Amino acid sequence: MDSAQIRQKFLKFFEERGHAVVPSSSLVPEGDSSVLFTTAGMQQFKPYYLGSKDPIKDFGSKNTVSIQKSMRTSDIDEVGDESHLTFFEMLGNFSFGGYWKKEAIEYAHEFITKEMGLKIDYVTVFEGEEGVPEDTESAEIWKSIDSEIVIKKAGRKDNFWGPTGEEGPCGPTTEIYVNGLEIWNIVFNEYYQDKAKKLTKLEKLGIDTGMGLERLAMVSQNVSTLFETDLFANIISRLPDEVPIRIKRIVADHTRAIEAMLGENLQPSNKDQGYVLRRLIRRVLMYENKYVFKYVINSEVFDSERKKFNETLGSGLKQFERGVDPFILFTTYGFPIELTEEIAKEKGVAVDRKKFDEDFKQHQEISKAGMEQKFKGGLGGHSDMEVKLHTATHLLHQALHDVLGDEVGQKGSNITPERLRFDFSFPRKMTEEEKKRVEEIVNKKIAAALPVQHSVLQKEEALKTGARHFFDQKYPDEVSIYYIGESLESAYSKEFCGGPHVANIGELGHFRITNEESSSAGVRRIKAVLE
Ligand code: ALA
Repeated sequence: MDSAQIRQKFLKFFEERGHAVVPSSSLVPEGDSSVLFTTAGMQQFKPYYLGSKDPIKDFGSKNTVSIQKSMRTSDIDEVGDESHLTFFEMLGNFSFGGYWKKEAIEYAHEFITKEMGLKIDYVTVFEGEEGVPEDTESAEIWKSIDSEIVIKKAGRKDNFWGPTGEEGPCGPTTEIYVNGLEIWNIVFNEYYQDKAKKLTKLEKLGIDTGMGLERLAMVSQNVSTLFETDLFANIISRLPDEVPIRIKRIVADHTRAIEAMLGENLQPSNKDQGYVLRRLIRRVLMYENKYVFKYVINSEVFDSERKKFNETLGSGLKQFERGVDPFILFTTYGFPIELTEEIAKEKGVAVDRKKFDEDFKQHQEISKAGMEQKFKGGLGGHSDMEVKLHTATHLLHQALHDVLGDEVGQKGSNITPERLRFDFSFPRKMTEEEKKRVEEIVNKKIAAALPVQHSVLQKEEALKTGARHFFDQKYPDEVSIYYIGESLESAYSKEFCGGPHVANIGELGHFRITNEESSSAGVRRIKAVLE
């Protein structure tokens, strides 16, 4: 049975049994910022379990059925084996105070054995734990349907589900296994778990079920991996034979996920959902490069990400060879951690994933704090990006001296979260060649991941260091100098400046001049971005 038929059969089966068909909600959950993606069909129905919304009013029934687009990034490292995916479609039937265990189990049994013609290996039920009793009722119901059925018991880890995010409905489950694979999870939503992980009984009993379409297609089509089902065969067949099977699977999985995410207008970026999208795209791009195939996703966003990635791939690989930290590889060269791990594995070197995860978390927190401060409009409220652009302005200033000579003098500077603007004395338009050289120098310095350091000196001492400053400005007796490099003497750039700056230019990303024009007589204006 092909996957389109399975979808139809599932919806029809439950529709005929009094369920309202509800479309999939968005892949990015609305009104629940504690999770990045929709990971289960029940998420859009949370208010109905809690009684804050009325299913009869909204759906005309206490029972619903849906096919939910879902993403689980927790499995991202497993993708490439036979049964793990990032993006999948979840078939689910739900009840909010309508039916309970007996009907839920009977429906599932009938659907699997009669509609799909499959044989159940065994089922599992909750064995009981402090505060939550053993589910003997479900075991009885299974036996009453099929006295031969094998019933296994398991604890909280396997047979208790939820909540999604920080709090919500949850409860014990019964699960159906076919060909050794968990096919269907039936959750009895009896409890509410709060942020402190405390369980209280829900007023209304709820049913929440989830069955992976891909797994069901696999057992129904009698193939031995998800990737041989009709859902993936098409993508896989377009890849050259010499691509290893594990890579084909990763590309196939990521393709479905990328297409679903682009379909929701998500853009690749360095945080949240956008970061996940970027990781998936760049992993595919890396394989594209390595196995020389042109990929099949037709999208402007994908093409522009390819362009950006190709610009930094070569130098990123070089930095990798030099042993540069995975976090710098991420911030500067846009190497998602999976990519670094992949390359490391090939070369037989280890990557400290834990350290990366910690650095990444801290980075997200700093940038969040920066943004919050910015929105508050407080003093010193610089966003992460503005701080980076400020440091990039120092690099640009020095690079202009390198390329154009000492005629260059700073006339002004202005930074927004999107771009830097730098005005400097110079008598003519810069040539394309000169602009390119400036960009190259700045990017090379960034690639060298130099530290940014700070000294406070007496003005006389400070002037002797040769640090750049405005000649016509009065400075106090003590001045602060920011320099980029290992020591003040050897520094690439030194300026009188109050900061703030990034700690290491390795985190700046890719520098690009977007515009160069006249600002006033004898003064040029450059705008540039970090991307
Ligand atoms: N919400 C349950 C799951 O995702 C059905 O497995």
